[in-house]
Amino acid sequence: MKKFGRSMMTGNILLLLGVLQTLPISQALYEDQIGKFDWHQQYVGKITDMFWDQSFNAGKRVLVSSERHVLASVHSHNGSLAWRKVLEDGPRGRIDKTLHSGNLLVTLTGGGRFVRKWNAGSGLADWEVSLPGSKSGRADLVQCGRDLLAVMIQDAVYGLDPRSGRQKWSVALPQSNQVVYTHLFTSGTNLFVIGQSLGQQVTRVTVDMEGVVRSTESVKAPWLSESTQCEVTNGGVLICYRSEDQSLQTLTLTDGQVFKSTSLQILGLEPSEEVSMETVRKVEEPLIFLRTAKNHMALLELTNDGVKLKKDLPSICAAQVVSLDDKSMLFTLERIPGELKMKVYDLETGSEMADLYQTITYLPQHGYPQRIEVLMFKKRDLRLGCRFAILSEDYSMQMVLKAGKIAWRREEALAYVLSVEMIDLPVSENQAKYEDEFGSHKDDIATMFMKRFKTQISQLKTYIQQQLQKLQGHRHHHHDTEAMAESGSDDDDEDLTRDEFNLNKLIVLVTGAGKVFGVRSTNGHIEWEHFFPELAPFDGNNQQKLLLFVQRTTAHFPNPPQCTVVGKHKGTGNGFLFSFNPISGEPVDTPPTGQVLNYRITQTSMLGELDDHFLRGILLMDPDNQIHVFPGKCLSVLKKTFGSQYMFVADRETGFIKGYRTVPNQGKFLMENVWTVNLQKKQQTITQVVGKRPLEQVHSQGRVLGDRSVLYRYLNPNLVVVVTEGEFIEQSQRGGVFNTINLYLLDSVTGHMVFHCSHKRAKGPITVVHSENWVVYNYFNQKSRRLEMAVLELYEGKEQSNSTAFSSFSSPRQPLVLRQSYIMPLFISTMATTVTEKGITSKQIIFALKLGGLLALPKALLDPRRPLVPTQETMEEGTIPYIPELPVNAEAIINYNQSLYNVQGIHTSPAGLESTSLVLSYGLDLYFTRVQPSKMFDVLKEDFDYFFISAVLLGMFVVTIATQKLSARRALSRAWK
Ligand SMILES: *[C@@H]1O[C@H](CO)[C@@H](O)[C@H](O)[C@H]1NC(C)=O
Ligand SMILES: *[C@@H]1O[C@H](CO)[C@@H](O)[C@H](O)[C@H]1NC(C)=O
Ligand SMILES: *[C@@H]1O[C@H](CO)[C@@H](O)[C@H](O)[C@H]1NC(C)=O
Repeated sequence: MKKFGRSMMTGNILLLLGVLQTLPISQALYEDQIGKFDWHQQYVGKITDMFWDQSFNAGKRVLVSSERHVLASVHSHNGSLAWRKVLEDGPRGRIDKTLHSGNLLVTLTGGGRFVRKWNAGSGLADWEVSLPGSKSGRADLVQCGRDLLAVMIQDAVYGLDPRSGRQKWSVALPQSNQVVYTHLFTSGTNLFVIGQSLGQQVTRVTVDMEGVVRSTESVKAPWLSESTQCEVTNGGVLICYRSEDQSLQTLTLTDGQVFKSTSLQILGLEPSEEVSMETVRKVEEPLIFLRTAKNHMALLELTNDGVKLKKDLPSICAAQVVSLDDKSMLFTLERIPGELKMKVYDLETGSEMADLYQTITYLPQHGYPQRIEVLMFKKRDLRLGCRFAILSEDYSMQMVLKAGKIAWRREEALAYVLSVEMIDLPVSENQAKYEDEFGSHKDDIATMFMKRFKTQISQLKTYIQQQLQKLQGHRHHHHDTEAMAESGSDDDDEDLTRDEFNLNKLIVLVTGAGKVFGVRSTNGHIEWEHFFPELAPFDGNNQQKLLLFVQRTTAHFPNPPQCTVVGKHKGTGNGFLFSFNPISGEPVDTPPTGQVLNYRITQTSMLGELDDHFLRGILLMDPDNQIHVFPGKCLSVLKKTFGSQYMFVADRETGFIKGYRTVPNQGKFLMENVWTVNLQKKQQTITQVVGKRPLEQVHSQGRVLGDRSVLYRYLNPNLVVVVTEGEFIEQSQRGGVFNTINLYLLDSVTGHMVFHCSHKRAKGPITVVHSENWVVYNYFNQKSRRLEMAVLELYEGKEQSNSTAFSSFSSPRQPLVLRQSYIMPLFISTMATTVTEKGITSKQIIFALKLGGLLALPKALLDPRRPLVPTQETMEEGTIPYIPELPVNAEAIINYNQSLYNVQGIHTSPAGLESTSLVLSYGLDLYFTRVQPSKMFDVLKEDFDYFFISAVLLGMFVVTIATQKLSARRALSRAWK
């Protein structure tokens, strides 16, 4: 690797500035272009806690906190975010508890590391206190009266002043190295801390409001195990559910000496695998909900003698107890096809309150509702009214303001995108006729003429229709503002057809929540959605994966496009497939609920060739190395081409990479192991395997050098980059444990190791971009404590081994590898490269900065041929002199001032215009935009002066005619002389 020299830096900086100016480094947008080609959607993630905001015009907003470390306030009438706070990444930002009562909004995060009080109106933090944090990760927070907040972390309890965060007292908990403290509870003038010792006992520590330990007692609980769930109810009862014998154990915290046991059978409840408890907070009585299935709950009352069934709620999927003016009410939701039934009961008498009964239209693609949060109020005529928010299985949040109608919904599953494809829209009806017209060459002249005539008539018809629609549309617009609030604008009524430059696409998003969406690229509105409660991602090495294959693109009219999602079944771990038409969202080849296979999937790949209907089959490998083809009708293609089907499996558990080829065996196809590479699991773990984008377009096979010779690129489509990370112990006097990174470039057909390099004292997480003949990756340099980018470029040399086709079996064995590395001044979360239709446009690398920007830098800055000392020849080649730092300027930030949080990935896709690449960044936010890495060389600018050009043309025309006349007259007069 090149050393970063300082002396050359100053020498070259002027020259570099000169060159940079000629580079299309800036992408800057005019202010009036904001939002024209780009859109931004902000999400919060799966909501774990939800409260009606009591402090800020009660009922106007809902406060939510989520699994993705977000605290936010949502406008209750339109669902948009009033404010959102994204807390720290990693375990430091995990929200342990959110407490909201009256004006107080406090969060406890990072296993008790931070306590923060927020202003619920503005989202600003009033104060923050940092505490040592809990080793067990368990922490709890309660409010005791108006003057005390108590925080429990593993070995101590702290008393804080809610107004300033000032610490009033702290008290150490006894035996904190043996007991795991899990719950904090307040009752009367005492705090109770509950600790558990598995298989032995429950410890109860009583602390008074001054921070003095009053007593420590233990109660025998030999049944406590890892799987025991415990909750503390209002009124101070500890209740634990033992899954081993399906019993509930209860203990009164104030004076109980032994646990009382009640089995579910005695209560008349059906025991099941998935029992869970939900506490009831809004009333004083010790009540708790027990859930035995997605749609079966029970309300239990805890008494001194154990547990009593207060109300069995069969077929109820969500319930809540709310009180208003000393009256407690039980709200229940039942899902029936297409609707939700909400019933309300008076808790004291058990009678139904019929005037609050309502049914709500509810789409099946949201699964079962799991939670409701009700706001009760008195209307002007003193009748009771309510609004409520529903959280469903598919991570959606929906709001009912007026009886019977969902006012809006937030699709929080979109914060969990794992796979993306952008699909071309189908051509319009007229264009389809063109295709039909020019598609077949067998017609005679007369029929061709008739076809032409018909096409033009229908074109005229559509034109007139469009004009009429435009006129009507204007009138429509004014009537319909109410309906618009539901979902987006009336753009959505437009047909999904291709535009002139094929810039608008349908984006298919597959999410870790088991939901698949079709989204318009023009405005980000959802076109269709499917929810599969049983679909789970594959996971290995903390990376979740759901695969999305495009089996047939839109290019094969009249065959419809087809995509397939491949994942695993939640319960069994077997393969799970769902195949659909990406434009309409309709299922094809698989049932609408998805297809569960009867085997696990160890590797997938696509067939090299299309079938008669232009469909590309998917190959699925099972643990017995047998190959299955989906859909079954593509088996004939495999029968023809099995000789050229190869696959490889990188096993992180063993560190082996194995290559396979297909062999027929008694009517089946098996994968036969042909090569094995051992990457020494003992020393390192495989963390990334990155291939190239299939069917990538590469325009140029070589690179012209300064002396006009050509350096041919090594374009091996089977090349994969394998990254391993490990540790090594340095023996020198400084010594210590350091990290290493190894990069292997492997031919996935032959197992040939094309190149290997390693970085000592370097650490992940690593992102690899692999395209054409180059690889760009980043790593953290532990020695210099900075982020570095490295680039590898592979060349065959000055001669090309085979200019028509690349074969792994007769490839140049050892390509020339050029490498260079640079300093990246800012931390990044991921990166990607732009792609264009024909690969002519120069490439950009897009970096997602941790600070929230998307930085687009030309690939020319990451070019290993950047010379240290520029010469005539290097200038001729067009390389930029080397300086170590990559430049970061504000104009290269393509999302201008719209910060993006927790970016997980960037997907790029070509548009119909060669100059343009479409970019979707996903993570907590979705952001879509277009980039033109080489500017818009193929489109006239928007401010192109048509008038001036026409005037000039017209002027020329006039002048031509005039001079013609003049010269004719002159010629005539000359002839007379
Ligand atoms: C939602 O309502 C709030 C408060 O009235 C408003 O500020 C915000 O712009 C609205 N959002 C949308 C998307 O209409
Ligand atoms: C190049 O590869 C093709 C396909 O494998 C082969 O038919 C051809 O003979 C090769 N040409 C040379 C010069 O090796
Ligand atoms: C971004 O800039 C635009 C235009 O200057 C401004 O209207 C908008 O409020 C800014 N947005 C943010 C989030 O700063």
